[in-house]
Amino acid sequence: MLGKRISLLAIAGVVAAGAAWAHGGATGVVKERMDAMSAIGKNMKSVGQMLKTSPDIDPVLVANAGEAIASHSGQALIKLFPEDSLKAPSEASPAIWTDWNKFSDYADGLQASALGMKSLAEQGADKKSVAAAFGKVAATCKSCHEAFRIKK
Ligand code: HEC
Repeated sequence: MLGKRISLLAIAGVVAAGAAWAHGGATGVVKERMDAMSAIGKNMKSVGQMLKTSPDIDPVLVANAGEAIASHSGQALIKLFPEDSLKAPSEASPAIWTDWNKFSDYADGLQASALGMKSLAEQGADKKSVAAAFGKVAATCKSCHEAFRIKK
């Protein structure tokens, strides 16, 4: 009986360790920015899902998502990229630090477009306008990833 208990505890320990090692063992600032990016991704997904499946928009959902994305972008995003922080399994490109102005423009662009989407939702904009604003945010993700993220 005791033996069985110990093995269950061991399994629970492995599961907990697995959760702490999300993103393939990322640590420190690399893990922090992966977590921030994941949060950004989740918020984009919930708005995208709503736009796809519902005839109406949920302005609170859109405003909250815009706010959350904005809170992880701009300066908050930039400061998660200290020079040469490329520790595995980071997918960041070294070009970030040779083309820093462009990188930070994208980080600011993400914040501006996310806040734009938020304020449209708060003003009661229709689905078409919100979808266009969502498209703008998504275009920022894509541009920055194309330039500065190496898919491994
Ligand atoms: C300013 C540039 C920039 C912008 C804008 C940006 N990203 Fe990223 N993103 C990155 C970089 C660089 C990485 C790789 C980070 C690393 O692995 O160290 C990344 C990684 C990710 C990841 C993978 C995280 C992980 O767990 O490995 C997701 C998901 C993601 N971004 C989603 C988004 C979405 C969605 C948007 C737009 C709403 C967005 N990103 C906007 C630069 C950006």
